Parts: sequence; structure tokens; C-alpha cells
Amino acid sequence: MQTTQFSSAAQLPMTPCYLNGEYTALRDARISVMDRGFIFGDGVYEVVPVYAGKLFRFAQHMARLDRSLGELRMNNPLAHEQWREIALQLISRYAQSLAVQPGQTDQLVYIQVTRGVAMRDHVMPKDIAPTVFVMTSTMKPPTPEQRDKGVACVTADDFRWEKAHIKATSLLGAVFSRQLSFDADAVETVMFRHGFLSEAAASNVWVVKGGKLLGTPKDNLVLEGIRYGLMEEICRTTGIPFELRRISLAEVLDADELLLTSATKEVLAVTTLDGKPVGSGRPGPVCARLLAGYQMAKAQA
Ligand SMILES: Cc1ncc(COP(=O)(O)O)c(C=O)c1O
Repeated sequence: MQTTQFSSAAQLPMTPCYLNGEYTALRDARISVMDRGFIFGDGVYEVVPVYAGKLFRFAQHMARLDRSLGELRMNNPLAHEQWREIALQLISRYAQSLAVQPGQTDQLVYIQVTRGVAMRDHVMPKDIAPTVFVMTSTMKPPTPEQRDKGVACVTADDFRWEKAHIKATSLLGAVFSRQLSFDADAVETVMFRHGFLSEAAASNVWVVKGGKLLGTPKDNLVLEGIRYGLMEEICRTTGIPFELRRISLAEVLDADELLLTSATKEVLAVTTLDGKPVGSGRPGPVCARLLAGYQMAKAQA
């Protein structure tokens, strides 16, 4: 999974985005240097998958946006239906910019709300207008080879803050964490806090043991991915036992299967951890069933 690098804003694509009430090209979008998102990372975001032109699990993403904003003591500046309208507009404009039909490219809609513009002071200012930004891009799902063979991950201590449940734009901890795996030519960094699994830099992590799917509790130490609820639903309908509880490092190292979930990875098998095989070293049967369930959920959305 490569990053796309630009040396200046002038090289950004002409694809459309939405900023504070207006549609403009990504290349032309501007915010104030005093935006608290820029100064403090004082904002929240969402990443919503779009399949065949349709927003996937949009209501759940909106609910999480509300929760994150609530943690920042902010109100949602838009109604959920307004967010939907903007997202659908962008999906269609983005397809137009690529000269394809809206349903032809799977996309990711990125939503960001920052507290807004104020002179620099840590204290949260009241009554300022939030900055609202939305863009969309082409989804880059796992490659067929990654699906077939699974991916490599590394482990690390979870050195992030203790409010990982907020989908905050201040992501330096996640950037540091992800870089560790990138440097090791791996896809994710699986993190542990005091010897217990938390999550990966930008994914939730699941353990399969004896046919059961184990996930970590939905507390302040992990972001509750939208795929949390989805995994539970798929397990219920397919008869896979499901449990959320603390999971030790020893249990992760002894897993039959290890899985990542996120908006882009969907369900992805981890087949080596710190260079050692996980279970059989191949994507396992529970991963296959969950992935099939995921594809069904997409088709029914
Ligand atoms: C830290 C972290 N955990 C988990 C996830 C997975 O969340 P979701 O399933 O909503 O994509 C993400 C997604 O970006 C993340 O950044």
C-alpha cells in the first residue's frame, strides 16, 4: 500500500471536495493557518466506504461522528441527511471527474470537522464556526495476492494516548506506529498495552482460537471500528462464536488465525507476525467465512 506524494499543493488532483459550504477542486481548497485542526489537531474524522455508488453503513459512521464530536464538546454542524447529500454529490462529481459512472469506482468518502479558527490558546473557544471538509478518493482494497496469501504485521507497544476511542485527527501516535511496520515492509503494526492487545495503527485486530472470534473490549483504548458491529452480525448469522474480552500477547502469538478489519481492508488475514507464521501461515477458514459474509453485506447494502 503505497502513499501518493506531492511536493506542492499545485500538484494535488483537480478532483472535487467540499469545504465549508462550497464544492471546489482539492487543489484549490484553502483553510486558515489558525484553524485549530492545523494548530492542535483539534478535530475528528470519518472514512466511509462507497460500493457501487452506495454509502456503506452510513448511519453507523454518522453515529460514531456524533460520539467523537461529543467527546470534543462539539455539536455536529450538519444533520445526517445533509452529510449524506454532500457525500452523494461528491461521489457523483468524483466519478464525473474520472469520466466514469458513479457506481463504477468503489470510493472512500473522508469527512473532517475541526473546531474552527481562533487565536492559539489551548482552552476550547466557544461559539466559533467549525471547519467542515469532505473529499472522496478511489478505494484501494487489498491486492489479490494479499487476499490469497495474507499479510505481514509487526508488534509494538501501544504508545498512543488513552482516548483512542475518539476518531481524532491528531494522529501522530498512529503515524509513528504505522511507520514501524512500513519500515519492516509489513502492512500493519499490532499494538499491545501492558501486555494486552489493543488494535493496529489504522485497523482493529481479531484473534481466532478454536473456531471462536475474539475481539478486544469496546473501551477507551481502541477505536470501535464500524466493522466491530459487522463482525458480530456476521458471526451471529453464520454461527461463529463471538466474544469481546481482554486478549494477552501470549494468546495472540498462539492464535489459529489473526485478522485485521477496517474500511479499506474489510477482513484481511495476518499470516506472519514479526516474521513468524501465524497458525498455519495461510489465511484460515474463519477469515474466509467472515470475508464472504462481508461481501454479502456489501451486496445487500
Ligand atoms: C485506530 C483505528 N482502529 C480501527 C480502525 C477501523 O475502523 P473502521 O472499521 O471504522 O474503518 C481504524 C480505521 O481507520 C483506525 O484508525
